[in-house]
Amino acid sequence: MKKDFISLADMTADELREMLELAGKIKASPGVFADSLAMKSFALVFEKPSTRTRVSFQVGISQLGGASFYLAPQDVGLGVREDVRDVARTLERYLNGVILRTYEHETIIEFARHSRMSVINGLSNRLHPCQALSDIFTMQEKKRDLASAKIAFVGDGNNVLHSLLFAVGKLGLALTVATPQKYRPDEEIVKEALGYASSSGAQIQFVTDPHQAARGADVLYTDVWVSMGQEAERERRLRDFAGFQVDRALLSLAKDTCCVMHCLPAHRNEEITDEVLEGPRSIVFDQAENRMHVQKAILLYLFK
Ligand code: CP
Ligand code: NVA
Repeated sequence: MKKDFISLADMTADELREMLELAGKIKASPGVFADSLAMKSFALVFEKPSTRTRVSFQVGISQLGGASFYLAPQDVGLGVREDVRDVARTLERYLNGVILRTYEHETIIEFARHSRMSVINGLSNRLHPCQALSDIFTMQEKKRDLASAKIAFVGDGNNVLHSLLFAVGKLGLALTVATPQKYRPDEEIVKEALGYASSSGAQIQFVTDPHQAARGADVLYTDVWVSMGQEAERERRLRDFAGFQVDRALLSLAKDTCCVMHCLPAHRNEEITDEVLEGPRSIVFDQAENRMHVQKAILLYLFK
């Protein structure tokens, strides 16, 4: 049966740990895996722009011996030029898998329902599972004992946080989330993540005071306040998120050894200051690099 990678909620904690472990092996010895995807072809069908997801998947697939094709927003027109199920049933005749980046999460679900090939979620308005799994990998690399570390997320309760909540919930980690009240993460996702936490022992807390989240943090993570597709809400969002910027003062509440993370692209001097992004605590480019190693592990998990 085909396997998809659409939500971390669909994976067991053991599967996530297996992928993280494999990513470590791949990062240490990429050559060993050079032919793993020989004769396999993939398409990236993206409705939104991308730098990291696109390039890290395409380079990763090529390093594993496979081929990939990028189909830009204007190329396919999912559900606009053509019905989603017709694209799914056509592409499966040529390809082994597809990486989708969509506005609506439902588009990915619908595509997967009609396709016999594996579907990977490369970001939707609801989830960004490749990002979250890779972020856990980066945290593990930087923090010896991640299980006893305090992870703080300050900002918008959107796709990146949603997937991080699933990862933390499944893996038994500790996360404090600070968002303005009306930008709390989706309640269904919160409920689901808390459900995982009750069996894994994860500690997940929601607050509206960024200081409370940052105090004593080992990891301080933020994401943009204006995500792709939300540009029309920009002015309102900038007002609503005032006080949630990751700046020198907020970082000074965290541990001296705190690592600052951002999925990128960053809107400098909005959710994070230039100074912090460029500062000695920032690990954002190691974080970006790890996308590739972890996505290779995801591909091997799906296709080996
Ligand atoms: N973090 C991330 O997904 O970056 P891109 O939007 O550039 O792919
Ligand atoms: N929340 C951001 C993440 C980008 C990687 C967005 O959806 O635009």
